[in-house]
Amino acid sequence: MIKEILVYPNPILRQQSKDVESFDSELHTLLDDMNETMIYRGGVGLAAVQVGVLLNVLIINIPVDDESNLENRDGLQLAENLIEAINPVITHKDGTQVFNEGCLSIPGYYEEITRAEHIIVEYFDRYGNKKSLEAEGFMAVAWQHEMEHLTGHVFIENLSFMKRKKFEKEWKKELKERSKKASRL
Ligand code: CO
Repeated sequence: MIKEILVYPNPILRQQSKDVESFDSELHTLLDDMNETMIYRGGVGLAAVQVGVLLNVLIINIPVDDESNLENRDGLQLAENLIEAINPVITHKDGTQVFNEGCLSIPGYYEEITRAEHIIVEYFDRYGNKKSLEAEGFMAVAWQHEMEHLTGHVFIENLSFMKRKKFEKEWKKELKERSKKASRL
């Protein structure tokens, strides 16, 4: 089922998520709903808190270049590339990279954020099997971005003071526009 995505500054997005304790059908439904929602909204990653569930659960699906499809140069998300991570922990970080990030909870806003270039993570899959993964580049960015959601933070908190101030001003205006549009429907 496609879920509603919480939009900044919804206070739930500021809350710390908790570890999953049972790898049951409820968890599987959450993961399936999150994937459906992420695909529907055109995201590459989603944390459970973004659909209002305060559990340490995130999904990532980095698009691959599709050479055969000239119409779609943005890449394709393949089902087999979907990562479902339960109770994830970053055990190692090194290097730095700057990437132009966006977030489904702050739709339409993009800004350059500095993060580690290379990470190692440990997590559990939906059945409770322990996994470990090494990531760099865009994949490492996606992991760090989604992990931040689980601690009750969003990517704009990494902006400089002046950029953050400018963002908050623009976002207030944007939200006003949105509610005006919504009330006309
Ligand atoms: Co996000």
